[in-house]
Amino acid sequence: MRMVDLIEKKRDGNQYTKEEIDFIIQGYTDETIPDYQMSAWAMAIYFQGMASEETAFLTDAIVRSGETIDLSAIHGIKVDKHSTGGVGDTTTIVLAPLVACLGVPVAKMSGRGLGHTGGTIDKLESIPGFSVELTNNKFIDLVNKNKVAVIGQTKNLTPADKKLYSLRDVTATVNSIPLIASSIMSKKLASGADAIVLDVKTGAGAFMKELDETKKLAEAMVNIGRDLGKKTSAIISDMTQPLGYAIGNALEVKEAIDTLKGEGPEDLTELCLTLGSHMVVLAEKANSLDEARKKLVQAITSGEALEHLKIFIEAQQGDSSVVDNPEKLPEAKYKVNINAEKEGYISSIVADKIGTAAMMIGAGRATKSSTIDLAVGIELRKKIGDKVFDGDSLAVIHGNEVPLDSYIKRIKEAFIISEKQVDKPQLIYDIIAE
Ligand code: URA
Ligand code: CA
Repeated sequence: MRMVDLIEKKRDGNQYTKEEIDFIIQGYTDETIPDYQMSAWAMAIYFQGMASEETAFLTDAIVRSGETIDLSAIHGIKVDKHSTGGVGDTTTIVLAPLVACLGVPVAKMSGRGLGHTGGTIDKLESIPGFSVELTNNKFIDLVNKNKVAVIGQTKNLTPADKKLYSLRDVTATVNSIPLIASSIMSKKLASGADAIVLDVKTGAGAFMKELDETKKLAEAMVNIGRDLGKKTSAIISDMTQPLGYAIGNALEVKEAIDTLKGEGPEDLTELCLTLGSHMVVLAEKANSLDEARKKLVQAITSGEALEHLKIFIEAQQGDSSVVDNPEKLPEAKYKVNINAEKEGYISSIVADKIGTAAMMIGAGRATKSSTIDLAVGIELRKKIGDKVFDGDSLAVIHGNEVPLDSYIKRIKEAFIISEKQVDKPQLIYDIIAE
């Protein structure tokens, strides 16, 4: 086989065999296929697309390019939840203890934040003492014992994806549905899950801004799961505004605690119940979504989910007294209000602008090597649809340095106030399951 012939094949709109895709991914991983040919290949995929079968072959080839995690020593059906990335998205910290207390094993690998989106690992590290570095044996033991453990990402998974993603970044080929779908699913499959629940975000703060494109991406990922024998469900959820009210690491942990107490924001709570129901059903701990939801609500009202959060934190050396005393979480020195300058209804809170402002305050990383401040962030006081009067607080900056005009301006610009009454945005747009 010659790479040049394979590039031509896709350029002309033809379909690859499994052997051809293996040849491309293996060759790119072991560097017998150079970046310039892979760039042309990615552009051919960008324009010609891939059939569902080819996308599954591609995903499988990427999984086999590196190590895979073996979770077979964990009892039960391991269901992983993955979000395509949003602003203020605290669902993992709510869901992990919540579904675990219903017996669903949560063996989660999470990432750190980059750019305008946050990462679960950083958020958990705002709990004093919390360690995300566990040996594989310890990780598996904890999941068997408590049904929950969260660790940072292992370096050697899906090397082909790392190379290809960087290449796509500089060749204008990121935005291709088969390439995105295979990239995301390869990482999930390599981490050893038996079933996957995807939270595919749509709107201004999301990677996919248009609903019809988001649906295509969700369908492509569910098809990959089906073709590779992993049950997969995708929930398409709103990211036109940040999720909940808190954006920033410790602030979001506090919000997750509130949610497990049954006192969390409406949208965050609803999204967790929806994602959680799908996780519980896929793990065969309930026979229907309704039954699963009832059990989740019951776990919150009885306090069992909150107790399970304490168990989870303690098992990873964290100080679980933050659950009852959230003031023990890192707190910022300054709190500065951003006020409305006219009366009306909030029609938009542009999520990526808020996410970028939170990053500039210090809650996120501009580059992979930036340091972050776990205490700082933004607390929204209003959400889309709320009525505001001139002078009302729209948001509060939690900062450790004197606030700068650059991000104050950005936060102000993110809030659009209209004279006409505005409805709350829909939270769940669609659910795609096999
Ligand atoms: N996230 C990924 O992991 N891969 C993509 O290609 C796009 C978003
Ligand atoms: Ca939030």
